[in-house]
Amino acid sequence: MAINIKSSDFIYPYFAVSGKGRKERIRSFPGQFRFSADLLIKDIRRTRKLGIDKVLLFGIPDKKDARGSRAYEDGNIVAEAVRRIKKEFPNLTVFTDVCLCAYTDHGHCGILNGREKIDNIKTLNALAEMALSHAEAGADWVAPSAMAKGQVARIRKALDENGHIGTKILGYSAKFASNFYGPFRSAALSSPKFSDRSAYQLNYADNAAALKEIEDDIREGADMVMVKPALGYLDIISQAKDRFAYPLAAYNVSGEYAMVKAYAKDAKQEKALVLEIITAIKRAGADLVISYHAKDIARWLKRG
Ligand code: PBG
Repeated sequence: MAINIKSSDFIYPYFAVSGKGRKERIRSFPGQFRFSADLLIKDIRRTRKLGIDKVLLFGIPDKKDARGSRAYEDGNIVAEAVRRIKKEFPNLTVFTDVCLCAYTDHGHCGILNGREKIDNIKTLNALAEMALSHAEAGADWVAPSAMAKGQVARIRKALDENGHIGTKILGYSAKFASNFYGPFRSAALSSPKFSDRSAYQLNYADNAAALKEIEDDIREGADMVMVKPALGYLDIISQAKDRFAYPLAAYNVSGEYAMVKAYAKDAKQEKALVLEIITAIKRAGADLVISYHAKDIARWLKRG
């Protein structure tokens, strides 16, 4: 069956900051911004009009600390943004990223136990608290991306115990230690200050480990699983879909987006490239695609 792209196939990512009146262009990430909640609402209104009905929120605090405490404090950036978004757009499906890397001063995805080692228990507690704050604010889906062992089960338990049985979990299950996250890290100011993420993100040479992570997340109670990045990982997407027949998202990441922007010589070529890429990701088996191209695609679908 031929692949047909629709605006409902997409989740559009947004970067939220605190304060008012902020719309910051991100160098090295063409066409993407960090928004304070007021301007975020304005931009989402346009995104909605294009037919996009799902967004993914990342929070970027002005100050970071060793424990990433601004990720889960009362009134944290994402919880506040979700509250305002859901009030304004009750039918918009809101996903929130649950990870500490944008909030820690060392840039790692969890709380460290001495240098260079993640403390899994402390990290799980922080992630559970963060997810809970998002659910309380009205998030429809929380998306744990820290690659901490047991994160899906821990978050499911915290949500259920606090009455959020309807809040769903999108597991960033097969998340590779990739070289394609650069523009995102400049957006989130989240590059690790020492070492890299290879202790907790997956080795891209190992597909068995990726499938095992997906299986674990399904068993832990994820409602949807994810492969990230997408373009170099179509085989993983395809194997995951065949093996598990489970709802599956793919993250068309920042570096993939930036490559298209750098290569396309005009809008016509950009459109052709993007439609080919997204078709390939869907053909491989993704049900939903997280993509920075989503707004452009929705515009093309509407106006040609
Ligand atoms: C980490 C996280 C990353 C992205 C989203 N959340 C990767 C990383 O910094 O390791 C990358 C997304 C992109 O490149 O678009 N929690």
